[in-house]
This record gives sequence, C-alpha cells and structure tokens, in this order.
Amino acid sequence: MKMTAETIRAMKKRGKKIASLTAYDYPTTRLLDEAGVPLLLVGDSLGMVVLGYEDTTFVTLEEMEHHTRAAARAKPRALLAADLPYRTYESADAAVQSARRLVAAGAEAVKAEGGRAILKQVHAIIAAGIPFIGHLGMLPQSVRDEGGYHIKGKTDLERTSLLADAIALTGAGAFAIVLELVTPPVAAEITNRISIPTIGIGSGPDCDGQILVTNDLVGSFPWFTPKFVKPKLESARLIQAAVQDWVKSV
Ligand code: KIV
Repeated sequence: MKMTAETIRAMKKRGKKIASLTAYDYPTTRLLDEAGVPLLLVGDSLGMVVLGYEDTTFVTLEEMEHHTRAAARAKPRALLAADLPYRTYESADAAVQSARRLVAAGAEAVKAEGGRAILKQVHAIIAAGIPFIGHLGMLPQSVRDEGGYHIKGKTDLERTSLLADAIALTGAGAFAIVLELVTPPVAAEITNRISIPTIGIGSGPDCDGQILVTNDLVGSFPWFTPKFVKPKLESARLIQAAVQDWVKSV
C-alpha cells in the first residue's frame, strides 16, 4: 500500500511506531523502501553528509530539487518528504513557490523548521494542497544564530514554547512533527498532548516515531556520529577494507 500523509497520521491512532530515515539518492531510497521504511526524508542534512558543507545553511533549493528528483526515481511505496532549505520560506508566497518546486521534483510532502514563527507559511503551504511536516526543538538551520546545536526543553519557558508551537502546527494542519534534541520528558508531554505523530531524533523513546540520518545509522559518515545514535553497521570500515583488499589484488 502506498503511504500517504493520511496513512502516516493514522499510525499514531493505531499505536504503530513510525520508523523514518533520510534518503538523498536513487539506490538508498530503493534499499530503504524495500526494507519497509514508511517515511523517507530528503533532508537538508545532505548538506553535510553528501555535499561536505559545514552545516545545512549552505544548502540551496536547486540542490534539494536535484536530490529529490534522484530519490523520487525510485518510486518508493514510502511517503517521500523533502526539506525546504534555509531562507526559502521567509514569506507565505516564497514558501508556496519553494514547496511547489520540491513537489515538481517528486516530493509528496515538505518539512520546514519552526512553529508559530512560520505559521503563515505553514497555512499557505497546506492551503496549496501540499502535506506539511513540522520541525521543532533544535533547529539546524538556526545553528549560526544560536552558536551551536543545543538541547531544547530544559527550562519551563522552552517547554511551554515548544508545546505552544506543537499545538499551533497541529491546528494549522501539519500531519506530523519532527522533534529534534528535545528533552525526553518534554517530547513525551508533546506526544501526549497532540493528535498528530511526533517523530523524534535525539528526543528519547516516547515519541510516536523515530527518524535518523541514514549515514549515522549505517556508519557511512564516520567523521561525526551524534551521541544519541548507535550505528547498526560500520559500513565505512567495511568499504575501506574491501577497497584495500581490491587494491592489493590489482
Ligand atoms: O535534514 C534532516 O535530515 C532532518 C532530519 C534528521 C530530521 O531534518
């Protein structure tokens, strides 16, 4: 069965955990789809793990379109979402134009960072008929403003602000919300308070689903692994060993 925003949303009601991973190209999308992952994200994390940028603020809409087209050629059964990159959704009109470009490239939903601060943009994207995923907590596109990647939800002010953002995004019609680096008790509280699924990354076990950067899960970007990830595979080491073996055989 083809996954849609509706079927992903319904997984929460059925108590079915949502496993989600990033995919930036055709073979990875096919492999993860054939492995049964229901939600795939062409994340702007590709800026670091594919393009070698320092952070996601360098990623352009053209780069996101290019990778979304490649992933979409796999025609996954999974829902294929794509990130709106940095500064491509500063107004409602810009958000709709950028989201339409990702949809034309093959995305079936878009994700953007922020809550009440981007509510006009979220309303406009959803009014244009494009399914929307929210992203709250640590917002990687704000890394330069915030001077690093900081855990969110530690103070009561942050807790109430995250809750208000999650409630606002739900009211605007988002079908899921990524919670990144939110303290586990606050992530659990948000998960219990809203009707749409929360998909955690570094936010504890109590979200409705979990998302990881695939390269972190399979160890193909060994130069940096977030503390909360336990890689299931050391693919970088395996690749290097295979290549060294082949080099010797030449
Ligand atoms: O860009 C990305 O890959 C993401 C996920 C890790 C949530 O936003």
